[in-house]
Amino acid sequence: MADASTNGTPMFVIENLHASIEDKEILKGVNLTVNEGEIHAIMGPNGSGKSTLANIVAGHPAYEVTDGAIYYKGENILEWDADERAQKGLFLAFQYPTVIPGVSMANFLRMAVTNTRKARAEAIEAAGGTVAPFTPREFRRLMREKMALLKMDDAFATRYLNEGFSGGEKKRAEILQMALLEPSLAILDETDSGLDIDALRVVSEGVNTLHNDKMGMVLITHYQRLLDYIKPDFVHIMVKGQVVRSGGPELAHELEAGGYETILAELAAKS
Ligand SMILES: Nc1ncnc2c1ncn2[C@@H]1O[C@H](COP(=O)(O)OP(=O)(O)OP(=O)(O)O)[C@@H](O)[C@H]1O
Ligand SMILES: [Mg+2]
Repeated sequence: MADASTNGTPMFVIENLHASIEDKEILKGVNLTVNEGEIHAIMGPNGSGKSTLANIVAGHPAYEVTDGAIYYKGENILEWDADERAQKGLFLAFQYPTVIPGVSMANFLRMAVTNTRKARAEAIEAAGGTVAPFTPREFRRLMREKMALLKMDDAFATRYLNEGFSGGEKKRAEILQMALLEPSLAILDETDSGLDIDALRVVSEGVNTLHNDKMGMVLITHYQRLLDYIKPDFVHIMVKGQVVRSGGPELAHELEAGGYETILAELAAKS
């Protein structure tokens, strides 16, 4: 059977997505299509639903999807749990990473990568192919390779996950996780927040190095600054649970100059 992504089906489609938390409707009909290789930026005022959207894509159980669908390579992912989504190639870097005391970075990453590899290997074997086993030695080799790529210090791997990590170190850790998991679709929620100027450049260079023409990417950000480093193909503005405007990179410059005032006034005039 042909891969759905090769016969004209967009890689990732969010269609009329409505979602609530505790009976409060947060997303009110979100539409977004991301093709292979595209970089999309989502901007929007605080509380407009950007993180909610990212969490729902990742499969966070707290949110209830009340209408609409999310298709990944032609399949509706709302039927998959969070693990399955990750195994199939979706990746979300959280705005507020959780602390997992007592688990080292390397161990956490090894578990995450092993699970993903195992699921992918099973799928390949089910289709009659063969896959070399993913050994601890192979993991260490891969980890060293990716850490070098991201210019990360070796000592980083033995640190305990997020415990005592500075804001910038957490963000780098997320990018390392992304490098190891090699997702098809990555959603980065405020990867730029809390980074100093140098770290912003290093993390952005890392993201650019990892991005390829098969990978779709969604960057949630408040500032044009990040988009100077990671050039988006499309910029979307989310307000009150809907994408109210979409355009090219110039839209982010427009926002930087004039804030949300003009867009909010236009919306108010329409309603
Ligand atoms: N777990 C939750 N319980 C109750 N309300 C929530 C929860 N998560 C989000 N909300 C509400 O949903 C709305 C959207 O929040 P969300 O975090 O998605 O916004 P955002 O666009 O990411 O904002 P920011 O730019 O500040 O990160 C807000 O009004 C928020 O208070
Ligand atoms: Mg947010």
